[in-house]
Amino acid sequence: MSLIELATDGVFIPQRGLQKEELSALDGRLAEIRDSIYERDLSEFAAGTASDERLPLDTAFVDLPDRLLHTYKSDRDQSVLNDVLVVARRLSELVDRVVVLGIGGSYMGARALMESLCHPYFNELSRGQRGGYPRLYFEGNNVDNDALQGLLDLLLQGNEWQHVEDRWGIVPISKSGGTTETAVAFRIMLAKLRELAGGTVSDYIVPITGADGRLDQMTKGLGCGEMLEVPDGVGGRFSVLSAVGLLPAALLGIDIVRLLEGAKAMNEHFRQAAAAENIVLQFAAIGHLMDVKRNANIRVLSVWSKSLEAIGLWYDQLLAESLGKNQLGATPITTVNTRDLHSRAQQHQQGCYDKLIVNVLPGRHRTDALTVGHHEKNEDRLNDIADKTVPEVLDAAILGVDQALRGDDRPAIGIELGEINPYTVGQLLQMLMLATVVEGRLLHINPYGQPGVQAYKTNMDRNLGR
Ligand code: PA5
Repeated sequence: MSLIELATDGVFIPQRGLQKEELSALDGRLAEIRDSIYERDLSEFAAGTASDERLPLDTAFVDLPDRLLHTYKSDRDQSVLNDVLVVARRLSELVDRVVVLGIGGSYMGARALMESLCHPYFNELSRGQRGGYPRLYFEGNNVDNDALQGLLDLLLQGNEWQHVEDRWGIVPISKSGGTTETAVAFRIMLAKLRELAGGTVSDYIVPITGADGRLDQMTKGLGCGEMLEVPDGVGGRFSVLSAVGLLPAALLGIDIVRLLEGAKAMNEHFRQAAAAENIVLQFAAIGHLMDVKRNANIRVLSVWSKSLEAIGLWYDQLLAESLGKNQLGATPITTVNTRDLHSRAQQHQQGCYDKLIVNVLPGRHRTDALTVGHHEKNEDRLNDIADKTVPEVLDAAILGVDQALRGDDRPAIGIELGEINPYTVGQLLQMLMLATVVEGRLLHINPYGQPGVQAYKTNMDRNLGR
C-alpha cells in the first residue's frame, strides 16, 4: 500500500534553508529516539515503571491502531472497534442529529475527521443523501452563550420526538470527566433532552470518558449502558484514533478500519525505515533544525484544500500543547490556500525569516473536475483559460507559490497525500503525532501533559467561588 510522501527539496536552499549534511548528522540520534519509543517508553508505560521525571508518559497512542485492528480481526465481538461500530449504528438509527461535547483533544480530532472526510456540506444534506448517518455538531468547546443557544434553537425547532428527524443525542467526551466547559454544556443540553425525550434519556447519550470520573458517574447515574473509554496512557491530543475520534467518525459513516490501517502503515514505516528515508523522523528533524538553528520558530501548516483546515487546527493544538514548554517549541499556524494567499502570504513571502512552510498537498480531487468555461462577451477576460479545470488552476497556484518562495529564499517542505481518504488521513495524523513526540525528545521536552493550562483553570474556579 502506498505511503504519503514528504518532499524536502524546498528546505535545501542557499541562505536560510538547511544543508543536507546538517540533516544527515542527526540520523543516529533520530534512530535512537525512535528505538527508545519502542524499547523504553512503551515498555515502561506497560510495566508502570517510568520514573517520576518521565511522567506523564502518554505513549500508548503509538501502537493503539495496531492493537485496535488486531483485536478486531482476532476477537471481533470483544473488540473496542466492534463496540464503536455497534453504538454508532444504534445511535444513527435512533436520531438524526448528534452533538459531540468536548474541548481540546476531546473534540479537535473528531472535527478534523469530519471536515476532511465528509461532504463539505454534510449537515445540510437530507438524511437519504447522508446515507442515514446523523448530522454532527460540536459544542462544549467554549463558554459562549450565543453559540450554545443557537445550537439549542436548531435542536428544539422540531418537537415531534416520535419522528427520527426531530430526535437528537449527545456524545459527551472528556478524559478527565471534569472539564468545566464540557460539563456546563452537558448539563444544559441534558435538561433540554429530558424535556423532549421524557424520563428515559439514557438511550440518547453515549459518554466517552475515563473510568470513575465525574462524567462517568453522572452518566451511570442516568442509566447510560454504553460507555466508551479513553484508553489509559493516551493523552487528549493524541486520542483521535481512540473512541474519541472513532465514534464521531463512525457516526458519520467514515471507514474507521481504513483510517486505522493507514495509521498502522505509518507505524510500520516509522519502525522499519532508516532515518534518512523515514518521513516521520525527517519531518521532525527538519522542523527541529529550522527552529533551533535557523530561528524559524513559526511552523506554518499550509493546507491546499478547505477540507484540511481542521486537521491544521488539530495540529496547532498538538504542536502547541506538546512542545510549548520551558520557553521552547515552534509556534504553529494553519493557513488554507489559496484563500490565505490573500491574507497571510504577504508576510510569509517578505516578513521576518522566522517561518518554515509545510505545504499539505491533497493530490487527486474527489469529484469531477469543473471547467472554467467560455463566456460570450469575455468581460472577465477568462476566455484564454476557458478550457482549464479548477484543479489545473490550483496546480498553477501551487507551483507559483513554490517558485515565489524559492525566489525569496523561504524554506518550504511538502506532505503529499496523493488523495484525501481515510487511509491517507490515518497516515497523516499518525505521522504528525509520532513526529511531535520525536521533536519533543530532540528538544529534551516531555511532549505529554500540559501543566501550563492548569493556571487558568485554577483561577477560573476561584473566580467562580469554587
Ligand atoms: O490534549 C489534552 O490533553 C487537552 O487538550 C485535553 O484534551 C482537554 O483539556 C480536554 O480535557 P478532557 O478530555 O479531560 O475534558
